[in-house]
Parts: sequence; C-alpha cells; structure tokens
Amino acid sequence: MIPHLLSMQDLSVDQITAILDTAETLKEIALRPIAKVPTLRGRTVCNLFFEDSTRTRISFEIAAKRLSADVINFSAKGSSVSKGEGFKDTALTLQAMGVDAIVVRHAASGAPQQLTRWVDAKVLNAGDGWHQHPTQGLLDLFTIRERLGHIEGLRAAVVGDVFHSRVARSVVQGLLTMGAEVTIVGPPTLLPPRVDTWGTAVSHDLDAVLPKTDVLYLLRVQQERMGEQFFPSSREYARIWGVDRDRLARLPEGAVVMHPGPMNRGVEVTADAADAPNSMIQLQVTNGIAVRMSCLYLMLGGEDGRAADVGGRGSNSERVEA
Ligand code: NCD
Repeated sequence: MIPHLLSMQDLSVDQITAILDTAETLKEIALRPIAKVPTLRGRTVCNLFFEDSTRTRISFEIAAKRLSADVINFSAKGSSVSKGEGFKDTALTLQAMGVDAIVVRHAASGAPQQLTRWVDAKVLNAGDGWHQHPTQGLLDLFTIRERLGHIEGLRAAVVGDVFHSRVARSVVQGLLTMGAEVTIVGPPTLLPPRVDTWGTAVSHDLDAVLPKTDVLYLLRVQQERMGEQFFPSSREYARIWGVDRDRLARLPEGAVVMHPGPMNRGVEVTADAADAPNSMIQLQVTNGIAVRMSCLYLMLGGEDGRAADVGGRGSNSERVEA
C-alpha cells in the first residue's frame, strides 16, 4: 500500500483514511491484558536516530513491540558514527543485516529519501530537518478525528514557529488533504518565506483568529535551530503568541488545543492551558503508538491494504497474521 513513508505530501485522502481506520482498530490492543499481537513476528525494525528524540523513538519502539517485531535501537551517539562512519555506510550495514524497516530521524532534510536508494527495507521518516514528520501529522489527524468526529470543514490554526517546524509542514498538508481550513499564525519572522503557496490563510493576530478556531495547534519555539534572534524575548513571545487560560476562553465551545511536544511551558503555552480539559496533548502521545502500529502494519504486514483483523476484544488470537 505505502512503499515508504517519507512525506505527508505523498499520501492521498484514501491512504490517510486507511491509516487512521487501521489505527482505530489497533488502538484497542493497548487495553488488552497482554498488549501484544503476533502480526509482525519475525520482522525486524531498526530505529535509526541521528537526532535527539524522546516520544517519537519510544513510540515507534512500543508500536513495533506491540506487533511482535524485533526492535533494534540505533542512536548516533555511542555508535560508529562517532568514529566518523557516514550515513551511507551505516545504511549499508543495516542492509547487510537484513532489517525489514528503518525508522529514521536525521538533521538533513531528504535523508530518509536518500536512504531508500541504498536499502531494500521500508523507510519511515521520523523527522528530517525542517522538512517533514509524517507520523506526527498522522497522529494529529487521528486525534482530531477521534475527538471531533471528522476533519473535513474544521477550522485549524497552526501557531508559532512554523519556519523551523517539520511538524507544521506535515500537519498542515494533512489537514488540507483531509479538507480542513488552515490559518498559519505567527510573527512574520517565524513564517516560512513562501507561506503564500501553502494553500492556507495567514494571520499575525492570534486573538482575532481564536474565536474562529476548532483546532488550535501550537508549535514549539525551536531555539536550537535559531542561529539568530527571531523575536525580542521569550516573555514578549509569550505575551503576544503564547496561549493561556484567557486565550483558551476565546475559543468556541468544543475547540481543542494540541502541541506535538516537547513543550516550552511558559513560552508557547502556560502550564494551566497545557493541562486544561480541552488539551489533547497527552492523547496525542497515546495515539501516536496506534498510528505508528498502523503504519508498520500497513507497510510490513498488510501489503494489500486490508484493514487489520486484530481479533475479538480482549483476545490475542493468531488471526492478526496478515
Ligand atoms: C517534534 C520534532 O522533533 O519535530 N517533536 C516530536 O517529534 N513530537 C517537534 C519539536 O521538536 O518541536
């Protein structure tokens, strides 16, 4: 169904819907007494992380293990990369070892695409530079659909450091593909240069956008990617672009708040807003596992794109074999 998962741009409405529907079926596995099915038994998934990660790496690892795949965790620190081994040789080593899927995070945009030229394994992009982070976008779409019942026609505002954000590039494309209206909101210095070609509205006035927003998606201010000053101070950023309880109160009834994590509490979001009842932030993390299970299943187990048959509730039956 999906040869490699490199960018949200490659996915059609039908493919996204299939991933979300399969994730919905797989989410239930987490509630079983033994939260594991044998679907990917005998398959090997390698997490190849050249950049730091907490939730994405752990989430992929749990997802693969719940499907009974063997998981190898490779991080550049502590590997032969620190002896100067390059990306290609690392890839060829994994190829020689016969892994079935490689989940890759790399600081260079396009690295996952390059990897597909060197290995036979399925490649899943877990974040490449400022470019894409498709499983994050998919778990966001899943969370929105689960909570609000649909995506089409919703009004989403993506707020903050869009310029440095691969998450924004993925989630915005996903929302547009699924028929939502998107407004990018932030200071001009943090918006990408060709944002007018994104197919979204653009605003520099958060307070004007809030009453017309069903999904308020906050982005992390990516200090580590900022070689220069993009705004005067964190305090000023928080005052103009940060979301607190007062700003939450301006959202329409039923609107939700999202953030991909890690959060800078007190900068893009206050602690009480992050933990408010309409905050989806923890649910996003939980749903990330089901969505990554779905991607691994559809790429490694369900070649013909059939919905996953994961057996009856509470069962760990063999029927999950694809
Ligand atoms: C994001 C990332 O690494 O791109 N985090 C994540 O995967 N949930 C977002 C970020 O770092 O701001």
